Parts: sequence; C-alpha cells; structure tokens
Amino acid sequence: MSRIAEWLAERVPVSGAQLHELTNEPVPNHLKRWWFCLGGTPAYLFVVQIITGILLAFYYQPSATTAYDSIAYITDHASYGWFIRSMHKWAATFMIAAVILHQMRVYFTGAYRRPREINWLIGMCLLMCTLLIGFTGYSLAFEQLSYWGATVAANISDAVPVAGRFAKQMLLGGDSYNERTLSRFYILHAAVLPATMILLIAIHIMFIRLHGVSELQAEEESDDAPRHFNFFPDHLLTEITIGLVLMILLSAISTIFPVMMGPKADPLTTPEVIKPEWWFYVSFRWLKLFSLSFAVLSTGFIVGAMFLWPWIDGALRKITGKEEISVYIGIVATLLLVGLTVWEAVVTH
Ligand code: HEM
Repeated sequence: MSRIAEWLAERVPVSGAQLHELTNEPVPNHLKRWWFCLGGTPAYLFVVQIITGILLAFYYQPSATTAYDSIAYITDHASYGWFIRSMHKWAATFMIAAVILHQMRVYFTGAYRRPREINWLIGMCLLMCTLLIGFTGYSLAFEQLSYWGATVAANISDAVPVAGRFAKQMLLGGDSYNERTLSRFYILHAAVLPATMILLIAIHIMFIRLHGVSELQAEEESDDAPRHFNFFPDHLLTEITIGLVLMILLSAISTIFPVMMGPKADPLTTPEVIKPEWWFYVSFRWLKLFSLSFAVLSTGFIVGAMFLWPWIDGALRKITGKEEISVYIGIVATLLLVGLTVWEAVVTH
C-alpha cells in the first residue's frame, strides 16, 4: 500500500496539508440554512444537464427534416430515452427556478454590495446564459410551439435598435427561419453556451473563494459563538444531501410527468395560441401590454439596470439615506414578476 502511495506522491506532488488548505474553506454559519446556499443547486443541475444532454446528443439530429423524428425516436424507442429526455427538460425548469431564487437571496441579503460587484456582473451573465440555453433548447424540438416561439423571438429581436437585425440574422442564419437555423440553435445550446457557462461558473466560484461568502450574524448567535464551520466535510455533506434529494425529486417528477411530443412544426400554419416557456411569460405579458418598441426598449433598460444594480443601489442609498431602499424595490419587482407570470399563465391570449 505504501509503495502505491509513494508512487502516487512522486507523480502528483500535492501534500495532505495543501489539500486540506484547498478544500477546507471556512464557511459562515448561516450557510447551514438551505436558502443561503442555493447557489450550489444550479451548479448541481448544470451537471445533470451536461450528462443527460450528452446522452440525448447521441440521437438528436439538428435539421428541419430530421429533428422532430429523432426526438420522437428518443421518446418512443431508445432505451430509457423518455426518462433521459424528461430529466433534461425538468432539470432545465428546476435550474432556471434555482438561479432566480439564488439571485433573489443574493439581492435581498445585499450580498452584491462592495466588494462583490464583479461577482454580481458575472452572475448576471450566468442568468442571461441560463435563459438563452433554455430558449435554444426549447427551439430544438421543432414542434409547432417551439418553431413559432423562435420565429416570434427573432421578430422581436428585429425591433431592438442598432444590433437587433444583426442578432436576428446571426441566430436564424438569414432573414427568416430556414434549413440552417436549427444547427445554429444546436451549436449555441450544446457547445457555445455550456462552454461559456463553465468558464463563468469557474470565475464566479474563484471570486467566492477570494472574498469568502458574505457574513451575516444571526440575531440569536452570541458574539463569542464560533461563526464558521468547515467546507469539508460539513458543507459538502449538506450539498450532497441537497443533490440526492433533488435527484429523487427529479426522477419522480420525470416518471410521473414524462415529457410528451407536441405536434410537428408547420411553417404554413400559425397556431392559435403561441406561448413561450414559463420563464419568458413575464416578458411575453409585458410585450402584450405595450407597443413593441416600448416593450423592447423598457426591457433593455430593466436588464441594463439589473447589471448596474450594485452602483445604482449605492447612489440610491446615498440620495435617500435609506439603507434598505433596495429591499422595497426588490419587493415591488418580485410582485411584478410573479403577477405578470401568473397573469400570462392563466389567460389564453
Ligand atoms: C448557473 C448559475 C449560478 C451558479 C452555479 C452560482 C453559484 C454560486 C455559489 C455556489 C455561490 C456560493 C454561495 C451560495 O451558495 O449562495 C454563489 C454566490 C454568489 N452568487 Fe451565484 N451562481 C449562479 C448565478 C448567479 C446570479 C444569476 C447572480 C446574480 C446576478 C449571482 C450572484 C452571486 C453573488 C453576488 C454571490 C456572492 C454571495 C455572498 O457572498 O453571499 N449568482 N453563487
């Protein structure tokens, strides 16, 4: 045994003390509460997406003539294909929900404030990539709704000043949906966006390690009580438990509510009702409430303000003298987000 250890130590010259130092980041006590460590959940679900996505890619064929049939093959014939496909679809839903909840936790605890502004920016890029990867994935099925959803999204992009038309042409490979479009969606969904997200998550975690997770002293803790616990094994065990519970939940939901096939895309027949996936309900309702150019410009303004929030918040606190101003704004924004999403979900048009 010791000869094996010696052989390994010579080839991988990392001492036990170095490994301990690397894995034993002190973690603040409040991370024992699940809502404070929600960031680990999208990371875990991202891994589920990569594994199930690779398995789906063995069968998926990205072209208008083959995409629908290849997904029908996965669903009806490939071994456990229906299960892998359902896991991929449900984990996508869970991941988007987890990213939104994690961002809300960061927002409402003010964890984006100095010195963590750059990590908020990286997080915003991760949010954009998560929404885009969801959108491009939804479009791959070449079903009626996904086809028309992509067509509507491309037309909306046309209304964006300056870069909109270029973005639309880049996305579709022309002025309208054509035989090159699906392979563009596929490359974005299965290569460009996952690679970008891996890089962004690595930088995000590097910054978390550099700054440590933000401190928050709970009211019930006395000043001399220990305020940290070890990442390894304590926090890792919490994360593994969350991962196992999620796996059971995902498997159960995928089995009880497996993803079905919708009708195949028909470019000549516009469906009576076009709806995107639930995470775009809010933008879709916004579009229906206002003119296209106002909706597009105001959405751009809101997204820009979200990116710059750490600085806008700083200015607002200075002007109003209220430390908790962001909490009031956050509550209004959350009510709007939930209200518009539910509104779009319950009405047909
Ligand atoms: C794929 C998406 C994401 C992953 C995997 C991820 C992962 C994580 C992890 C593991 C943490 C450590 C603390 C915790 O668990 O809460 C964290 C913290 C943080 N995240 Fe994210 N995150 C993602 C998206 C976002 C988004 C969308 C934002 C905001 C725009 C954001 C901003 C932050 C900030 C500022 C921190 C530091 C919080 C603190 O120190 O308390 N992250 N993230």
